Formats: sequence, structure tokens, C-alpha cells
Amino acid sequence: MADRKAFRASILHCLDDPGEKNESAAVEYFADGLLLVKDGYVVALGDAKMLMPGLADDIEFIDHSGKLIVPGFIDCHVHFPQIDIIASYGEQLLDWLVRYAYPAEEAFADAEYANAVAEFFVEELLRNGTTTALVFPTVHPQSVDAIFQAADKRNMRMLSGKVLMDENCPEMLRDNPESAYSDSRKLIEKWHGKNRLGYAITPRFAVTSSEEQLKAAGKLAAEFPDVHVHTHLAENHDEVDLIAKQFPWSRSYLDVYEQLGLVRERSVFAHCLHLDDQDRTQLAKLGAAIAFCPTSNLFLGSGLFDLRAAQDSGIRTGVGTDVGGGTSLNMLRTLSEAHKVLQLQGQPLPGFRALYLGTLGAARALYLDDKIGNFIGGMEADFVVIDYSATSITRRRLSHCQDIAEKLFAIITLGDDRSIAETRVMGELAS
Ligand code: GUN
Ligand code: FE
Repeated sequence: MADRKAFRASILHCLDDPGEKNESAAVEYFADGLLLVKDGYVVALGDAKMLMPGLADDIEFIDHSGKLIVPGFIDCHVHFPQIDIIASYGEQLLDWLVRYAYPAEEAFADAEYANAVAEFFVEELLRNGTTTALVFPTVHPQSVDAIFQAADKRNMRMLSGKVLMDENCPEMLRDNPESAYSDSRKLIEKWHGKNRLGYAITPRFAVTSSEEQLKAAGKLAAEFPDVHVHTHLAENHDEVDLIAKQFPWSRSYLDVYEQLGLVRERSVFAHCLHLDDQDRTQLAKLGAAIAFCPTSNLFLGSGLFDLRAAQDSGIRTGVGTDVGGGTSLNMLRTLSEAHKVLQLQGQPLPGFRALYLGTLGAARALYLDDKIGNFIGGMEADFVVIDYSATSITRRRLSHCQDIAEKLFAIITLGDDRSIAETRVMGELAS
């Protein structure tokens, strides 16, 4: 027998990019809505009073009246092993990697440790309302097994892949071009397309890969066009300077990846703070995406992401937390910092658009928008129930909001993990 569920709440989702003007035609909102789910997929969304009379007798009815349902959040860039060193004081990117990130990642040679951290990490994602993420593990294949096992156990849609790094990093964290290729291949065969999991070829960044290794990664990217490519690009000025020395033949940092076959559909580049117009044109033309990571860019002092330039160029853009350079796994906290980053550049980020960046826009960036990102019929029913009244300040502020645009902006700005009442993965309670 089919499993049918009906969820009653205020329900909001994006049909398209609401843009800087916060076009309300790009969103759909039901103040008293009903979301119908069958066997984990959305079958209908509408006004509760219209849909209630037609409900089947055997349907499970879940009443969240007074709360807000939105699609599950999608984190386009995060490092699960760095949950151990989130909020480490004082350094900018290259020093921060050496002082905090690399030492923490060495511990993931131990499969048991990797499994324990992966379990904590996915629980924490779900508790924060994030149902899908594109995740960096470490160089160790067992860290890839750990994150995929933890996600698969909870039936989550998750992307990850072994980190490739063979120079300019600690000996303990090095692979080589051959093992990078063969280990990735084995892991693709083991995990890609299993249930809701997808593989991402993951060279850490061009600083820590030899040209030969990046070429091997590019070869894999050509052999497996439906897997993702995931790396960092143009985050920090010293990093960009290093790349120019390391790859003197390159026109730009992006050009290194492009020449070596790593810029294509399903390639996701974290940060992209220091690009020029030619880079942006190429990213858009080749169908690659950017993960905008506001809390990390502020915390590591990396710079301000120019969302308008990315959007004007037509580049697919989602938001990432980039924990542990980022300071929160919570998408409300992350979108609120995105708003502040854009304020400093005179660019608006109203609520609907912020929601878009954390849901449908992110799904489009990851080429997953035929499966997740909104509540169109047939989509996988991953969603979050937001409690406007979880804290005294949100309860008070929200009682003064006139419409959903105001409420959404206020809850993004003031909300946190306490605001996430419930997270559902394919209709099932996950947190
Ligand atoms: N660039 C290369 N590795 C990393 C990392 O672990 N974090 C961030 N923020 N940037 C990187
Ligand atoms: Fe990162």
C-alpha cells in the first residue's frame, strides 16, 4: 500500500529566481497550505481548505499550523572533517589550513573516527534543516565511505568524493596522480548513483595538486560526465598569487582548471571572490556553478562575493556554509551573513531571493533541480518546518510582520537551529 502523508502549515517555495527586486511571481505561498506526499514524493500542494475534503481516509495527517514549511536547505560547499576545528582563531586561508585544517584532517586516516564524525555531521546538518550537501571529506578513501554511509542510512541526497592533494601539504595527507585516479574510480563505482548518493571528483585546490594530478582529475571528469567536480577557486589574494607562480602558463586561476578539463556542467567552485569578466563568461558558458560562502569569506577575511556580477553573467549560484572556514551549518545564519556581505556592496538580498539561493538556486547550481529544491509535483519531499516562535525575539518580531516577505526576512536574520522545528527527508521525520 502506498504511504500517504498530508502536512498542513504555511508553505512557501520558489518557482524561479525572485531576483534583486524580490519578484513575488517567482514564489508560491499558501498561508494555510497543504502538502501531499506519496511514497516520499510530492503529489500536490495547495490551499488546505480546498484540498482537505478530498483527502483519502488512510492518509497520515500532520498539523503544523502556525509554522512555515520550506524546501530542505541545500549546502553547496562544506567540509565534514572540519566540524572539529570550526571557530579556530586568527589566521587567513593559507595559514589557517596549515595551522588548523590539515592537522584535523590527518585524524581521518582512522575509519572509526571518520565514521563517528560523519554521523555527528549529518545529524547536525539535519538538525539545522539541511537535507542535501556537497561535501569535502579528506584525502582518505575511508572518509568518503564514512560520509556516504552516514547519509545513505538516513536516505539523504548527498554529494561527496575523495579529496585529491599531492603537493604543498603535509606528507600524511598526500596521494599521487595514479592513486588519485584509481581510488576515485573505485569510489565512483562503489557509490555513484547508489540510492540518493552522487560522486564528486574533488581536487582540493590547484595549490595542493600537481599539474599531472589535475590532468588525471580532468580525465576522470571526461570519463564520468554525470559525476560532479568540486573544488575551491580564487578565495584569497595570496592563494591567487601562488597559482600564478605555480602555473605560469595560465591566463587566470580558472584557466588552470579549464585547460585541465575541470570546468564543465556539474563543476562547483567554492568562493570565486577574485575573478575577472572573462572568467565569469567562461563559467557561465561552460555551465559551471559557484558556491557563495559568506560566513567563511568574512571569518577568514577573504573578501566580498559579487553576486550581482555572477548573476549578470548568468552563472549558476548557490550558497555554501564552508564549515570549518565558515562559522555555522545553519542556512538561516548563512543567508543572513550573505545579506550583510551584499549590503556592503550596495546589492540587495531580500528574503525570497535568499530562500532561492539556499533551495532552488542551489539545486540548479548542482543540476539537481529535477529532484529537489521546490514542491512541484514529482519532486522528492525533503523539507523543513520553521517555527517562528522558537525564541522570544523571533516570536516578538514576527508578530509585527505584515506579510510573508517580511516574515521570511526577519526569520532569516534572527533565526538559527532553534527555529528548525522538524526536518523531513522524503516525507519521513529525520530530525
Ligand atoms: N582552499 C583549499 N582548502 C580549503 C579549505 O579547507 N577551506 C577553505 N575555506 N578554502 C580552502
Ligand atoms: Fe572550503
